[in-house]
Amino acid sequence: MGIYSEHVLPRVINVACGMKSGDPLRERVCAGLEGEVVEIGFGSGLNVPFYSDRVTKVAAVEPADLGWKLAEKRLSATTVPVQRSGLDGQSLPFEADSFDSALSTWTLCTIPDVEAALREVRRVLKPGGKIHFVEHGLAPDESVRKWQHRLEPVQKRVFGGCHLTRRPPELLMGAGFEIVDLDVFYEENAPKFLAADSLGVAASP
Ligand SMILES: C[S@@+](CC[C@H](N)C(=O)[O-])C[C@H]1O[C@@H](n2cnc3c(N)ncnc32)[C@H](O)[C@@H]1O
Repeated sequence: MGIYSEHVLPRVINVACGMKSGDPLRERVCAGLEGEVVEIGFGSGLNVPFYSDRVTKVAAVEPADLGWKLAEKRLSATTVPVQRSGLDGQSLPFEADSFDSALSTWTLCTIPDVEAALREVRRVLKPGGKIHFVEHGLAPDESVRKWQHRLEPVQKRVFGGCHLTRRPPELLMGAGFEIVDLDVFYEENAPKFLAADSLGVAASP
């Protein structure tokens, strides 16, 4: 990791992803999480205040040490035990069938081998376990897609490999998940090329 990705990018993400306008989406995506949860791309713990009291434990997977440090305040304010348990969603250090739920928020855009990461999430979820997700990706409108393709190289350089043109629901289905619930929309008050979100729940059969 270089100076930018280690010391600057996690702060940029903490501010950009920490806008209050994202809170209702975090509340929605965390609703229904239960039991032992694996969260991939934990970042600076912006979902922590939204874990419900049905969550018994969270295994947080995050490569950036600074993200974990920036999470300290939120971690000290929650009663849910959260443990930093891994550094890379592409290779999870857990036994198969060990979690009831998984959580991914605005992370599938960034993990280099996202297919491998989703296979790993499926492996560690118990049969019937669910992944809750809110992710940005390829927009429904061609006029927006055009800009996403143009801007993606810059986006990837500035935001640590963040893609604009991935298709989260298709990636989940490709990994063998069944989509149980899905809402596709543009986030308000954000440029459309960055704000084409899919929010939902997918089950591991
Ligand atoms: C846009 S941020 C989202 C952070 C957080 N999920 C949120 O909603 O605020 C993407 C996160 O994915 C993390 N990430 C990058 N590569 C990863 C990998 N291979 N495995 C797990 N997380 C990764 C980044 O460090 C960053 O914290």
